[in-house]
Amino acid sequence: MTTDLGKKVIYQIYPKSFYDSDHDGIGDLRGIIEKIPYLAKLNIDMIWFNPFFVSPQNDNGYDIADYRQIDPRFGTMADFEELVAKLKEVKIDVMLDMVLNHCSTEHEWFQKALAGEEKYQKYFYLRPKKADGSLPTNWSSKFGGPAWSRFGETDLYYLHLYDKTQADLDWHNPEVRKEAAAIVNFWKAKGVKGFRFDVINVIGKANELVDSTDPVQEKRLYTDTPIVHQYLKELNQASFGQDETIITVGEMSSTNFASSIKYSDPAEHELSMVFTFHHLKVDYADGEKWSNVPFDLMTLKKCLTDWQVEMDQGGGWNALFWNNHDQPFALNRFGDTKKYRVRSAQMLAAALHLLRGTPYIYMGEEIGMVDPTYTKIKDYVDVEALNAYQALQEKGYSASAAFAIVKTKARDNSRTPMHWDSSSQAGFSTTTPWLRPTGQEQINVKAELEHGTIFNFYQKLIQLRKNERLISDGHFKARFAKHQQVFSYERYLDDDSQKLLVFNNFSARFAELELPATDRFAGKTLVTNMGQTYEKLPQTLKLAPYETLAFKFDRPKL
Ligand code: GLC
Ligand code: MG
Repeated sequence: MTTDLGKKVIYQIYPKSFYDSDHDGIGDLRGIIEKIPYLAKLNIDMIWFNPFFVSPQNDNGYDIADYRQIDPRFGTMADFEELVAKLKEVKIDVMLDMVLNHCSTEHEWFQKALAGEEKYQKYFYLRPKKADGSLPTNWSSKFGGPAWSRFGETDLYYLHLYDKTQADLDWHNPEVRKEAAAIVNFWKAKGVKGFRFDVINVIGKANELVDSTDPVQEKRLYTDTPIVHQYLKELNQASFGQDETIITVGEMSSTNFASSIKYSDPAEHELSMVFTFHHLKVDYADGEKWSNVPFDLMTLKKCLTDWQVEMDQGGGWNALFWNNHDQPFALNRFGDTKKYRVRSAQMLAAALHLLRGTPYIYMGEEIGMVDPTYTKIKDYVDVEALNAYQALQEKGYSASAAFAIVKTKARDNSRTPMHWDSSSQAGFSTTTPWLRPTGQEQINVKAELEHGTIFNFYQKLIQLRKNERLISDGHFKARFAKHQQVFSYERYLDDDSQKLLVFNNFSARFAELELPATDRFAGKTLVTNMGQTYEKLPQTLKLAPYETLAFKFDRPKL
């Protein structure tokens, strides 16, 4: 692993909601350019941008109709080039989102296929119905409904694991793989230094598609299959792998340790790191996202611990994140948005940023933004949320119960416009935004920079990662694994000369830990959200609600 990867911090911008410079209600590239001074303050290394390519926006840009053009809603290619150049001046690199598992049904490949061009028909999974008249397979779309839709006026059906306007590309076809590499190379030539590969572990479907026996087994039919590794190695070699300074991350749905290690082990020449999601399923009832249950800290601790240890031992590398554009804000899930908003936001930040891996910050997280307080389904726009709202009611939930569930899990939660100030459109736009902001009166960038403490706290964590080898390179060991309130761990180097002890109180109650003598050497407090510093940790360590504490010491030579 290059030491570099451990020193970097990546920020995520959802362009549609960052800043609307032309006041049409949609964030745009020129808006991002205007906010570069703000971004530079954080001292982040790279920004991952969600897709802004030409798209009908049925899945907010994850349905791409032209991989090489900027959607006019977001700006022009000249704007993009200016953005890259200006970010470079403040030492921030650009990471683009490559959605190569599927394309929009408006993409010319699909359109030509529909018009009968055989070459392009081979880009997709087109299958006839089964002899009994049922769909080619019984698979479900991840957004609800069947995974097959009729291919024009023909007797064929095309596969779509996501929305029906997102047709899965057939990676078995070498032409498709060539197209994918060419797209990556196109953006690489524009100075792009990072690539995030959308749902990349589902590109390896079997040649022969067969019915599943249950939903769990169904995912196994197309997730993490051995051939994905082959395709990634090929893509690496044909594109980004030619530049060692490029950073890549694969979004891995329903993956496991062995596959994730392989994807991110530098010796495999696939990707730099992986996004995995197990730690964000600890508030799902029996694995069901559309449920409304409190999170389980013991499961969260175990999950984070296992991913830290397994990936380190196997030579893999984790992308670290609490938030992204598909998740409600972590503060609502694992923190306290009322009494301890600031403190719990800081605690969550430290708990994550001091782990082994590369941290990602989702826009708004650095000012402690929370989920919107919508009261009606009409406020939500995401296809997944609207489908779930219907599906829950079909399952027998009342409209209000279905709404309560959607409210806690909808992807729109984190997609609301960035709060720049307290004005009616949150300083995001002068017109009505595509998604309504709420709560900007209390939480906004202006107020945060004037008198807040969350943004500074992030600045400090980012700086520490650059300076402290314990953080960028250290191994991880879980501590106090059975403690019911505190997620604690230590980071240590190969020579074991130093240690970083980290304590995070995930509860609104005071917590106590009894520290052994081996934790109690002279050292210094690197991180605290309570202003509490120690020269040596006490035997009984008391933590306030949502307190976080990171203490570093040299181990005396024995
Ligand atoms: C990924 C994206 C998500 C999108 C899906 C289909 O999970 O993060 O936003 O809907 O892929 O492209
Ligand atoms: Mg705009």
